[in-house]
Amino acid sequence: MGGFDADVADAPSVLHPGLLESLAADLAALNYTVGGVADFVGQEAYAALNRDQLVPVLLVCEEELRAAAPSPLVVPILLWLVGGTLTQDQLDLAFPITGADGLQALRLIDPVGAPVPDTLRRAAVELRPYSSDADGDLWVASDLGALQRPGVLRHDHVLGIGGASLTLAQITVRPRVRTALDLGTGCGIQTFHLLSHAEHVTATDISPRALAFTRFNLLLNAGPLGIDPGALDARVSLRLGSLLEPVAGQRFDLVVSNPPFVITPRSTEESPEDQFTYRDGGLPGDDIVSGLLASLPGVLAEGGTAQLLGNWEIPAGREWDERLREWLPEGTDAWIIQREVQSPLQYAETWLRDAAENRDRAAYFKRYADYLGDFASRAVDSVGFGYIWLRRTPGGAPAWVRCEEITHEVEQPLGPHLGAAVERGDWLASAAPGGAGTQPDLTGRDENGPDLTAPDLTGPDQNVANPNRTNQQAPGRDLNWEYLLVAGDVTEERHQRPGAEHPGVILLRQGAGLRRTTLLSTELAGFVSACDGDLTAGQIAGALAVLLGEDGPDFVPDLLAMAGRLVLEGFLIPAP
Ligand SMILES: C[S@@+](CC[C@H](N)C(=O)[O-])C[C@H]1O[C@@H](n2cnc3c(N)ncnc32)[C@H](O)[C@@H]1O
Repeated sequence: MGGFDADVADAPSVLHPGLLESLAADLAALNYTVGGVADFVGQEAYAALNRDQLVPVLLVCEEELRAAAPSPLVVPILLWLVGGTLTQDQLDLAFPITGADGLQALRLIDPVGAPVPDTLRRAAVELRPYSSDADGDLWVASDLGALQRPGVLRHDHVLGIGGASLTLAQITVRPRVRTALDLGTGCGIQTFHLLSHAEHVTATDISPRALAFTRFNLLLNAGPLGIDPGALDARVSLRLGSLLEPVAGQRFDLVVSNPPFVITPRSTEESPEDQFTYRDGGLPGDDIVSGLLASLPGVLAEGGTAQLLGNWEIPAGREWDERLREWLPEGTDAWIIQREVQSPLQYAETWLRDAAENRDRAAYFKRYADYLGDFASRAVDSVGFGYIWLRRTPGGAPAWVRCEEITHEVEQPLGPHLGAAVERGDWLASAAPGGAGTQPDLTGRDENGPDLTAPDLTGPDQNVANPNRTNQQAPGRDLNWEYLLVAGDVTEERHQRPGAEHPGVILLRQGAGLRRTTLLSTELAGFVSACDGDLTAGQIAGALAVLLGEDGPDFVPDLLAMAGRLVLEGFLIPAP
């Protein structure tokens, strides 16, 4: 798609650079920040707001307005977070530089009533404070949510910062890169984060309104984001168009996308205007996600990575990851973590509630039935949700695919942990200089070889990893010669029947990142306890063989293979 108008009538205006500067100054003076608002309304009311409960904040604001000299901070909170109405005088007082007229010229507020009965104003959009470690305090405009407006959401709704946006921002591995792509930018949230470590970001969307919101947000936050408002293109290109069409022929070091992955029943009568663009890519089933898995590696530079969120259908009788594996093109490393599984019924309820479609009873019944019919037509048993990490395999190395289900709580931000795990995998896969000893066998259920030989991991803990569902990189490094350490967040747990001589269950637990738990055999537990950097892994395994009277040829190689898995999963780390 070609050029497009920077200013869109139905979105915040970027036609008044001076007013944007005034607004930023007024908002800063009001201390309209995450911390400022939380302090003002109280932590409990603020937490309620984040659970979409407005009443506690509304009560605080109403009480403040009854005070002799109310804090002006009550004005933006009532206006943009609660969706209340305010008078022109109240707005002029709280925004002394911008004024109510300035806010209206920026299309952030609307008059209430018609033709012009009084001086009341209400929010035209939401303007919410946001705080990130890299950029500090920002303000982000998006469409008013279901709570602040009546009826079903508009179909071209521009999403604010939601749970999925934050999840993607937190799982993103953030190396310094030259070029990054934010596919389906919405209000621009991923782009703000990318600007802290990418020289240049291309942000795309199929919605001109979304791009107008992103432009407004970039210009309003130009200072903290390190942007020259007069030369936005030097750091960010905004491109209108579908999926990869606006970046045809380009390559990126990093791609992030929270795509419109919500599976939606299709109908022959529907038009693009009927679709909720913010979540529905207009394709049947999970075709948006399958298409992205197949095509994204094509826009990655060698060694470049892509991270996205997605839903996938799991047909009856198939493993959850079978179809995902089929979608991946040659030469792509992939690590896919399934975080959640819903039944077709749960899925329909979640997404009908999301757009407030449950407010219209007759339409709700019909759409619910449509969902169930749609899933049944493809024999869908359940729907998975999870994180997808892709890499254009660097330098002709053999590609690997790793799919695992981790449904327990993880520690966010996960990005640094995922990045470290990939580095450890690369370290294991790379051939080390040194002697030729027995290599750790890290192959799982993938094209690289047979199933991993590992101890029985079926323990009492449902979070215990199942190695048969985890595929690893091809081995290269000979652990015989390596010094290993127990990672700093790892603890050991032993369970013993009363009166038993030895523990029946030995678990290793990670306190950080993916918070894995793994079951150890006695010899592996002995191996781990000796990993303090004094002896090589080969020396430890050899000493254990003597100690335990194990003289079979497989004992040491098997132990080193299991140690390799512990390195990959982050229980053990290479000594520096
Ligand atoms: C779930 S929202 C994500 C917004 C934002 N990136 C975030 O992380 O919150 C998906 C975005 O993709 C856009 N979108 C929908 N269909 C698209 C398509 N075919 N090509 C590009 N963007 C699309 C929507 O307009 C919306 O802004």
